[in-house]
Amino acid sequence: MNTKRFQLNEIEAAAKLLKQGELISFPTETVYGLGANAMDEAAVKKVYSAKGRPSDNPLIVHVASVDEVEKYVEEVSEQAKELMANFWPGPLTLIFKTKPGVFSKTVTGGLTSVAIRMPDNEATLALINLAGVPLVGPSANTSGKPSPTTADHVYHDLNGKIAGILDGGETGLGLESTVLDITDPKKPTILRPGALTKEDLESILENVYLDQHFVTKDESPKAPGMKYTHYAPNEPVVIVNGADEQWQKAIAYYQNKDEKVGLLANEERINQYKGTVTAVYSLGEKDSTIAAAKSLYAGLRFFEKTPVTVILAEAYDKNGIGGAYMNRLEKAAANHYFTEEMSNSSEQQ
Ligand code: TXA
Ligand code: MG
Repeated sequence: MNTKRFQLNEIEAAAKLLKQGELISFPTETVYGLGANAMDEAAVKKVYSAKGRPSDNPLIVHVASVDEVEKYVEEVSEQAKELMANFWPGPLTLIFKTKPGVFSKTVTGGLTSVAIRMPDNEATLALINLAGVPLVGPSANTSGKPSPTTADHVYHDLNGKIAGILDGGETGLGLESTVLDITDPKKPTILRPGALTKEDLESILENVYLDQHFVTKDESPKAPGMKYTHYAPNEPVVIVNGADEQWQKAIAYYQNKDEKVGLLANEERINQYKGTVTAVYSLGEKDSTIAAAKSLYAGLRFFEKTPVTVILAEAYDKNGIGGAYMNRLEKAAANHYFTEEMSNSSEQQ
């Protein structure tokens, strides 16, 4: 199959392919999604095989309006109405109790709930409207790889496996939407942190809970995606949290072990160390968590094309989108931080 790249004036042609049961990747404000008609079982099945995604991990249904949600869910509560009025279109996925018989098990992973979101991207809203159906849209990467933030990333992972990509340029936020479970109105719970923070949600809801515990293989998780290792590049990632001295120690520690070090860090740090390490990628202006969130996935992907054997990555403050940045980085690093003990052992060498 030839994967065609559609420009923004070719949305109709892309929508036509969706109606025919083909897969089209679309841009959103978070990351690129892999679109298929949510009502077409064969099309949805193709999404899992193109991504190599475990079949018990349910999909997000992407809609183009608030009004259509009532067709798909058991009840649109006052709480849900307020959330949608304030945050849609935008990076907020809501988990509702699904209306029985609307979506297949392939969409919901066999759960009695369904994830729905309205993306904040004009071209993609037009695409959904032209297709005339809601679209499933997991991130358009090979399962286990960083989510794509450009059409090139999608092309790299899925060329030959999908009918087309609607090229909307680089995505704005760079990290996936916040997933909020509102099936229990008394306990709205964030299952995946994103650009929209607990504090943002608490401007509407009284109390928002956070459920980020790492689920074991045997447990039945609330967000089934939690049980898989995500966002993992080929090389090990180690998080460095601290001042310049800590970075010097970390670089020395790995270089003493004959590792080829890559730095994924703020602009200032990159400028300081480039030339002394194997490769560098800038996360942007120092202290800007917004810039870091936007560049994280592209950075992780960048190192796959370099000879580095370990990536040292910058920790940021967990405020605002920094919380989501650190959540994704900790997953990519399997929670591996450079520690004092490691730096002491390198001093003794
Ligand atoms: O920003 C985003 O949300 C992107 C863009 C493309 O819209 N999409 C995305 O989809 O990140 P995906 O499939 O990569 O992640 C969907 C997450 C998974 O962690 C999944 O387990 C969870 O949502 N999810 C889906 N349906 C669910 C449900 N009924 N209950 C709990 N979690 C659910
Ligand atoms: Mg994903």
